[in-house]
Amino acid sequence: MSWIQKRRSEAYYKKARLEGFRSRAIYKLKQIDEKFYLIENGMRILDLGASPGGWSQYSSLVNEMGLNVALDLVQMRSVENVYFLKGDIFQKDVWDKVLEFSPGGYDLVLSDILMHTSGDRSRDQANSYFIAKRVLEICEHVLTRNGKALVKVLQGDLTEDMKKEFRKHFKRVHLTKPPSSLPRSPEVYILGEYYSGSRSDR
Ligand SMILES: C[S@@+](CC[C@H](N)C(=O)[O-])C[C@H]1O[C@@H](n2cnc3c(N)ncnc32)[C@H](O)[C@@H]1O
Repeated sequence: MSWIQKRRSEAYYKKARLEGFRSRAIYKLKQIDEKFYLIENGMRILDLGASPGGWSQYSSLVNEMGLNVALDLVQMRSVENVYFLKGDIFQKDVWDKVLEFSPGGYDLVLSDILMHTSGDRSRDQANSYFIAKRVLEICEHVLTRNGKALVKVLQGDLTEDMKKEFRKHFKRVHLTKPPSSLPRSPEVYILGEYYSGSRSDR
C-alpha cells in the first residue's frame, strides 16, 4: 500500500472511531447513498454480510422509521433498531429466515460480502462473482418490485458479465466506487434500481 493510500485508509479509520462507527466501511455506504439517494426513511432494508456493523449503524440512523435486518456468518454486536440473524447466504432457503422479519419482502438489499481473499486475482474475482449471483438469487425471493440492490464485487473480467446479469433484473444499473474505497482495491459496487424480477408482485 502506498503511503497516500495508507494515510487515506487511516484517516477513514480514525474518522469512524471518532464518530462512533465500527468500521470505515460505513463511509462507502454513506457516499453511495449521497450520490444515488439509495435509502429513503421507512424502507425495509436487508444488509447481507453485515458484521462488524458499520453499514447497519448507518442504516439504523438514516432509516430510523424503517425496518433494518442484518445477516452475517459472524455474530454482530447489537445495533439499535437492527435485527440480526446469524447465517450463511448459501444456506438452503436462507430467504425464508429473512422473510420472517418482513413477509412482504425488502425494498433494498445490500451486500458487502467478501470471502477471504486468496491473493489469486482470478480466483478471488470468481468467488465474488459467485457471491453476487447468490445475492441476485436471494433478491428473486425477497426484493420488491422497483426495489434496489447494492452488491460488492471485485472488478475484473467478470464484472461486465455481472452487470449483464443485473440488467436482466433491474431497469437501471450503475457501477460505482466511492471515494473512501481505496483506489488500489479492486472492490467496486454494482447498484441495480427498479427491480423487475420474478417475485415482483410483492
Ligand atoms: C467487509 S465485511 C462487511 C463490513 C460491513 N459492511 C460493515 O460495514 O461493517 C464482509 C462480511 O461478509 C461476511 N460474510 C462472508 N461470507 C458470508 C456468507 N457466506 N454469508 C454471510 N456473510 C458472509 C463476513 O463474515 C464479513 O463480516
